[in-house]
This record gives sequence, structure tokens and C-alpha cells, in this order.
Amino acid sequence: MDLAPTSHDTSPDEGATVARIMYASQSTVTTSVYAEMEKIRAAAVRHNEPLGVATALLYQSGWFVQWKEGPGSALLRIMDRVAGDPRHHSVRIVHSSRGPRLLSGPWSMAIVQCDESPADMSRRVLELRRAMDQGMQYPPPAVWRRLSTPMRHPGAARQADPDAFQRVMVCSSEGVSAFELTQWLAHATGEELVHRRFAGAQFLDVASDYVDVERGDRVLRLIAMARNGLQLPLTRAFLPDYSHVVMLLGTDVERNLALMQRVIQACQGLVSPPALLGVAPRQDLHDAPYALARRCGHIYLAALADPEDREACWAAAEPLLQKWQLAANSSSGPVELRRVSGR
Ligand SMILES: Cc1cc2nc3c(=O)[nH]c(=O)nc-3n(C[C@H](O)[C@H](O)[C@H](O)COP(=O)(O)O)c2cc1C
Repeated sequence: MDLAPTSHDTSPDEGATVARIMYASQSTVTTSVYAEMEKIRAAAVRHNEPLGVATALLYQSGWFVQWKEGPGSALLRIMDRVAGDPRHHSVRIVHSSRGPRLLSGPWSMAIVQCDESPADMSRRVLELRRAMDQGMQYPPPAVWRRLSTPMRHPGAARQADPDAFQRVMVCSSEGVSAFELTQWLAHATGEELVHRRFAGAQFLDVASDYVDVERGDRVLRLIAMARNGLQLPLTRAFLPDYSHVVMLLGTDVERNLALMQRVIQACQGLVSPPALLGVAPRQDLHDAPYALARRCGHIYLAALADPEDREACWAAAEPLLQKWQLAANSSSGPVELRRVSGR
């Protein structure tokens, strides 16, 4: 593997150019995957952080997927050790580039439980590898998405670019109404609701569900995110791919502002952050969120509906999502990224 250091490699500064690699490998773990990933987490936090390396690790359908960013020489050293670990085999690089740091913290992990077989995952790994061998690569968040949460809605294949579907995050200021809205939408449209769990260095269990629905001539993925998930480096890395963050606000002004602050903090440093869309039961409840969004330079769209009334909520928010379709389609297609890996 050629991850030769550059002049930037000694600087772990945010925004500096770093080496970014992603690989997929087949797990040999036969006991608790969670327990093994916890051990890997402990080793990674111990070894990676001092070297300025950030990583996100996924386990799904018998496969590990790991995304690493940092100085090329440090990645090379860590990868040499990791590649020989008996807990996995058949390590295949599926992304390798230099670019801005996208992972904002040392560690994220996700365990996705689904009915897929290892062969399904294997097919997607091979597709990415084939594209890479032909000189085409997807940006790291798109690689992760294509492996872990591929778009299966037939409507996406009818789009000019099947990868350019709209992605919208939804969070609630209290309770679980974001998850209930996603569940309601899945039920109302007859689409599958997909459940996922994540963990970061501090927050060890974060839920996130999503549903893909066709709206007019586009497919939209609505992703419910737990409030504590907003701080995860992995969540932050995906934010530029979202057109909107929908915030289901309640009557407690303090809680509404606390959610807004988390969202704004997660968006910090993004060149084109998603538009913020508040859904509140009364107009005056938009005043403080609107003022905060304006102060921080964010677009704030206001919709009126009782967040407990899923149907009304979606009816109020959905028309506002349509106008931003183009913004949602900007950043996930394959591009010719300069490879830094010889594998
Ligand atoms: C899929 C996978 C990913 C891993 N990722 C890392 C990593 O990012 N950093 C790290 O130090 N070790 C990682 N490990 C663990 C290493 O292979 C090795 O066990 C560990 O670094 C040894 O640390 P120790 O010598 O302090 O016990 C990973 C292992 C597996 C199976």
C-alpha cells in the first residue's frame, strides 16, 4: 500500500489534507461482535488518536468496513497491524484518496443488524472495487452508504443518477417523535423501515432508523436520528449529504433551543450545511430557533404542525423539502479521485 506522507502529514489540523482509506474485510468473529468491537475500540483509541488518525468501523452481515483518515505514514503503520489481525481476512481496499478530514473525532462504530447474507455485502464490495479499478471512486460517505445502506427503492434507478436521492435527517427536541414520524411514513407508504445502531467514543448506543419513499420524480430517504447521535463523528461526516435537518419542536422553548444548538454545533465548519426546518405547534415557538439560526448563518424554514400528529407534520414539512432537491443531490456521485493505494 502506498500511503506516502505529504507535507501536510505532520499537521492534524481540521481541514488539512489527509490520507483517507476505506476497506472491507470478512469477519471471523464467532462470539459477541459487540464485545470484539469494544476491544478494537479500546486499541484504536489508544493507538490512533496520538497519531492523528480517526476511524469509523462498521460491522454488517459478517463484514467489517473501516474508514480511516490521518497522516499517510500513520495509516500505513496501523493498517499493517490491522491487516494481520486474525479476527478478519480478505481485506479489500474500496476507497483511497487524499482530501479534507471528514471524521471529526477519533472513533465511531456501527453495528447493523439485518437479514442480508454475507454474499449481498460481498456483491457491493466487489462493485466498488471494480469501479475503483476503473479509476472511479465515490467520496467516503457515499462508499459507506453504498455498502451499509444501499438505495433499493426502484424509483432511484429511474433517476438520471441513482445515487442522487434526497437525504433528510429528522430529530425531535424531546421524546421519540422523529422515530415515530419515520415509522408512520414507512407504514403510510408501505416501505420498509430500516433500524440501525451506532456507537461513538462516548455515546455507546445511538439509534437511527430510515425509510426510502418516492415523492414525485425523486426518491427521498428520511433518517431519524437520536439526539445523542448528533455529536457522533460519523453523523457529522454525513451532514453535507443532507438537504435538510427537520427538527420536531415542542412547547418547551429550552429543549427546542438545546436541540438547535446540537444541530448547529454538528454543522460547524461545513461549507454548505443542510437547511434547518423547524416544525412547531405554534408560530411563536419559531421565534427563538429562527433568531439562533440567523445568528449562526443558517437557513431556517418554519412549518406549523403538532409534532405528535405524524400526518400533519409530514404534510407541513414535505412541501418545504421539495424546493431544495438540487442541494440534496450534490455530493455523492463517483469522481476521479487520485488514488494513494497500490492495492
Ligand atoms: C476490523 C478491525 C479493525 C481494527 N482497527 C484498529 C485500529 O483502527 N487501530 C488499532 O490500533 N487497532 C485496530 N484493530 C486491532 C489491531 O488489529 C490490534 O489488535 C491492536 O492494535 C493491538 O493493540 P495492542 O498491541 O495495544 O493490544 C482492528 C482490528 C480489526 C479486526
